[in-house]
Amino acid sequence: MADLSTVFTGIRFENPFMLASAPPTESESNIMRAYEAGWGGVVTKTIGLHPVVNVRGPKTKFLRADNAGTRLSMAKRPDSTLMASWNWELISDKPLDWWVGRLSAIKRAYPTKVLVASIMAGSGTDKELENWQVLTEAVQAEGVDAIELNFSCPHMDRVDMGANVGKDKVLCSVSTQAVKAVARVPVWVKLTPATANIVEEAEATFLGGADAISSSNTFPSLPLIDPETLDFEVNVDGYASSGGLGGPAILPQSLAKMAQMTQAFPDREFSGLGGISGFDQALSYFLLGCGTVQVATAAMLDHAIGPNVIQALTSGMTEFLDRNAERGWTSLADFRGLRRDRVVPHSRIARPEAAEYHGGYDEEAEGYATELARA
Ligand SMILES: Cc1cc2nc3c(=O)[nH]c(=O)nc-3n(C[C@H](O)[C@H](O)[C@H](O)COP(=O)(O)O)c2cc1C
Repeated sequence: MADLSTVFTGIRFENPFMLASAPPTESESNIMRAYEAGWGGVVTKTIGLHPVVNVRGPKTKFLRADNAGTRLSMAKRPDSTLMASWNWELISDKPLDWWVGRLSAIKRAYPTKVLVASIMAGSGTDKELENWQVLTEAVQAEGVDAIELNFSCPHMDRVDMGANVGKDKVLCSVSTQAVKAVARVPVWVKLTPATANIVEEAEATFLGGADAISSSNTFPSLPLIDPETLDFEVNVDGYASSGGLGGPAILPQSLAKMAQMTQAFPDREFSGLGGISGFDQALSYFLLGCGTVQVATAAMLDHAIGPNVIQALTSGMTEFLDRNAERGWTSLADFRGLRRDRVVPHSRIARPEAAEYHGGYDEEAEGYATELARA
């Protein structure tokens, strides 16, 4: 019998599918609808302590490709296919006081569903590190199952917030430590994909005490420029700013980041996200070693909280397990991480000719090159 349940960072999930921190989880009514629809858990829209004021006009748009032709545009039109979401939305514009009371009410109404609170503060001063602790204590007093630290919001001007924390190993470690000093529930950390070698930030985060890493948040990106108006497709008074790319376009990039981390830390726990809309994509993350997955863009486009998406994810996993029953697979534990070790250096990929290829080295590497070859 297919069993979709799983345990991740010590928490029992009825299924490994979660709504990611984004508009689908911005209110208690959305979150409760999501649970009713079948999601195993949700990560709330990120909660902070600083006042949040979003830009004028749309905060999210969807980039589509013409099915016949080369046009890529955010213009809504028939015969086109979704490529990506693009957003410059900030964290929750509702203050902590708004969430307090509501989180506990959600948890009381749905005790078997997993509720993870996403939080964000600055990291550059003692006061900001205390803010992480204020947020942690407030949300865990509400009974949330875990906390996800947002080190990955791509549109923060402050150098010690959001993705700017995730780009700095020391800030990753220090902020995680500050939270761990007061946390009584598992602490997940959502890292930015916008760094040279995410393994370094992951290592610092685990050294800080993180129980799991979530990846990826959106990738820094600009809206396209309309060839007729010469304006960015999203702009306010003609101005655009770097925002985040999500959805199908980022799936291969997010998988690459995830593979780096699950290989470097095979015994650690990871929640995979970026570009998931059906079970096939979730499966890639599971096969690389993830224990849960999260969805944002696809859910936003499906009645705001993804009732059809979660239906497809759970039935897709059930069918997958049934198809593989003869291998003895009954749950995620039976196939998680099966392809983690299939990502190898280029020189280990077979060549059609017998001729030897040494990754660009003709002879034994020496000096500085030796160090690089060993790295
Ligand atoms: C409109 C929008 C708002 C988002 N807000 C947050 C947020 O507040 N906190 C956060 O950690 N991630 C936020 N994200 C990122 C998503 O949680 C997710 O990491 C990203 O969209 C990639 O997943 P996807 O391809 O399923 O969309 C947001 C994404 C979108 C599209």
